[in-house]
Amino acid sequence: MTVHFIGAGPGAADLITVRGRNLLASCPVCLYAGSLVPGELLAHCPPEVRLVNTAPMSLEDIVAEMQSAHAQGLDVARLHSGDLSIWSAMGEQLRSLRALEIPYTVTPGVPSFSAAAAALEAELTLPGSCQSVVLTRTSGRASSMPDGETLAAFAATGAVLAIHLSVHVAAQVQQELIRHYGAQCPAAIVWRASWPDELVVRTCVGEIAATAQTNPLQRSALILVGSTLSQQDFGASRLYANDYDRRYRPRGDEPRFPSGSEDA
Ligand SMILES: C[S@@+](CC[C@H](N)C(=O)[O-])C[C@H]1O[C@@H](n2cnc3c(N)ncnc32)[C@H](O)[C@@H]1O
Repeated sequence: MTVHFIGAGPGAADLITVRGRNLLASCPVCLYAGSLVPGELLAHCPPEVRLVNTAPMSLEDIVAEMQSAHAQGLDVARLHSGDLSIWSAMGEQLRSLRALEIPYTVTPGVPSFSAAAAALEAELTLPGSCQSVVLTRTSGRASSMPDGETLAAFAATGAVLAIHLSVHVAAQVQQELIRHYGAQCPAAIVWRASWPDELVVRTCVGEIAATAQTNPLQRSALILVGSTLSQQDFGASRLYANDYDRRYRPRGDEPRFPSGSEDA
């Protein structure tokens, strides 16, 4: 018996991985985070599946479900939205399972920031421009931010910021960022990226608060900020430059990795 943690992806039912879908289809018990996991995904579960929406449950209740399945020898699919490595509450579940010696696996998923970038048709890291993306959030009721991890501190680096769980405090976000990025720096808010009702609004740092007002009821949104969101005048990557000598395409009289060499 194994508990399989599976990243469900950002919302579109076909953005789960093949491995995740196959695991879903093989597990007689499925615990899913009902607030963000699309119902369509549950169609991959086997017909007699025991479906449990964990949105209203406590950690103890969730672990008790896993223990009960373990006692019966039933595999469990544990579905969380996006990827499991960020804001999934997987860590505390794994800790409990380790203590109980219940086996588990972890299958990644497409994170929402990737789906938002895709909706914007944007490469967030452009040559000679921005080369870092910070996945962050603001303090919430359930989790406060550690000292030092302020938006202003990240903004001082000039990196692209993908700000989660914060559209309801958009005015505060705008205020913290404007000093570093300036009011005209490109920004975007993407609501429910990849869902059928996805909404993408391109804006600028000085308009983040006003933009958030356009859809005040929906909290499942990402705020993205950074020069690469709308940049057109960037240099091309050296990787594909015609004269760039590299392992898979040796160039010049004395290539660094001659074909046939051990390094090639
Ligand atoms: C609890 S976190 C889960 C993050 C998730 N594990 C991931 O990989 O993206 C929920 C937050 O992620 C963002 N989010 C999740 N799904 C989204 C989507 N489809 N579109 C935009 N933002 C999304 C929102 O900021 C939301 O408040």
